[in-house]
Amino acid sequence: MIPLALAEIAEIVGGRAEGDSSVTVTGPAVLDSRQAGPGGLFVAFCGEHADGHDYAEQAGRAGAVAVLGSRPTPLPTVVVEDVRAALQFLATHVVARLRDGLTVVGVTGSQGKTGTKDLLAAVLSSAAPTTATIGSLNNELGVPLTMLRAQPSTRFLVLEMGARHVGDITALTGLVAPDVAVVLNVGVAHLGEFGSRAAIARTKGELVRGLAPGGTAVLNADDPRVVAMRSLTDCPVLTFGRTVHADVRAHDLALDRLGRPSFTLRTAEASAPVALPLVGAHQALNASAAAAAALAAGVPLDLATAALATASLSPWRLEPRDLACGAALLNDSYNANPDSARAALDALAAIEGGRRIAVLGDMLELGDDSEAEHRAVGAYAAARADVVAAVGKAARPIADGAGERAVLLADNDAAVDWLRGHLTTGDVVLVKASRGARLDEVATALA
Ligand SMILES: Nc1ncnc2c1ncn2[C@@H]1O[C@H](COP(=O)(O)OP(=O)(O)OP(=O)(O)O)[C@@H](O)[C@H]1O
Ligand SMILES: [Mg+2]
Repeated sequence: MIPLALAEIAEIVGGRAEGDSSVTVTGPAVLDSRQAGPGGLFVAFCGEHADGHDYAEQAGRAGAVAVLGSRPTPLPTVVVEDVRAALQFLATHVVARLRDGLTVVGVTGSQGKTGTKDLLAAVLSSAAPTTATIGSLNNELGVPLTMLRAQPSTRFLVLEMGARHVGDITALTGLVAPDVAVVLNVGVAHLGEFGSRAAIARTKGELVRGLAPGGTAVLNADDPRVVAMRSLTDCPVLTFGRTVHADVRAHDLALDRLGRPSFTLRTAEASAPVALPLVGAHQALNASAAAAAALAAGVPLDLATAALATASLSPWRLEPRDLACGAALLNDSYNANPDSARAALDALAAIEGGRRIAVLGDMLELGDDSEAEHRAVGAYAAARADVVAAVGKAARPIADGAGERAVLLADNDAAVDWLRGHLTTGDVVLVKASRGARLDEVATALA
């Protein structure tokens, strides 16, 4: 965080400074006391199960010098009524101070936000100091925490923006209006919460509506619901995708033996070959999105393609790993919905090797369509994998969809046991489910 004294923070957020108000915050703002670091600000919330204020001292021992909370703590504290609003207000204020010379990029979509954000951060940081969302901190708390990591030297601020309800993205662009708005796709993630795909499209469109004056919308030419968002803005639009109509086009796509895409990125002015060190054809689309966003932010194509060649992703996104038994693991256990599960299964199908084994668990928040969606993904998996190991609560419909290729496993322990007993050299194992299913435990046990 830019250096701010406790008294200044109190003034900015309209709170009361308790304790030594001359103390100056210089480190990052965190919500988890275990993540606190030197000079940091510990943001204390009263949650359902725990009261953050009780952890202030622990945060202090880890280096935090001050607290933002709703009551005094043993550390110097800015006391406010609404901690969330104060955090957001502080973030808005800090970025407004840094706004000259700063390009803010917002990334949204039903899937691929983190991957695209990671690729874009790799590209932009090869050109100038860049602050980007860590992992997937994309909500009303994660976005302000990321904004507060911006420094006076930061030239690019890349913000992953997620949504579960109509209005969520508008709330985020209200914190800072992006100069570049990247919309990846309109899928069915969180359909249960949104109610309809039209509501999802409307919500993703909020990023385009929220553009700063003079900004650029970067839209997926392959997704009709996304290109249609042109009509939401008077700002210039740059499109990306596989189609010939895309302004930044990924074409001549080929996958190598490990399912890693190589392709040519082409604009009206230039073209350059790219070989991604990442698994899955969908990453070619994400890379074209990152290159288009970089162009919109003033970074030329050759710089972008050079950086893409060595980019890496946040953990557990189709993360490849060799296992001691000679099999290969594709750990995609970070999260899942029907679209991302299909993308991962396509990636699995493209890998050369022995048997392909898809270990699939619950996809959460699908509402009334849940059973049908699990069954459909089971069938999709059976067309691409030799074995479909269905795990957990939704195992039954997945297995029903997969038919004869299915193995029904009650829980993560059963999945580990079964895999240990059946994996052999050359097998490729994909592990994928929603976060709540914690299939990372299976991946970790295998590794
Ligand atoms: N462009 C894409 N189209 C379809 N599926 C994709 C795409 N990009 C990534 N995926 C799939 O979605 C998974 C999750 O990717 P990623 O974490 O980047 O998405 P996200 O949008 O950030 O998700 P979350 O909503 O959990 O933050 C990937 O591992 C892959 O299986
Ligand atoms: Mg994410």
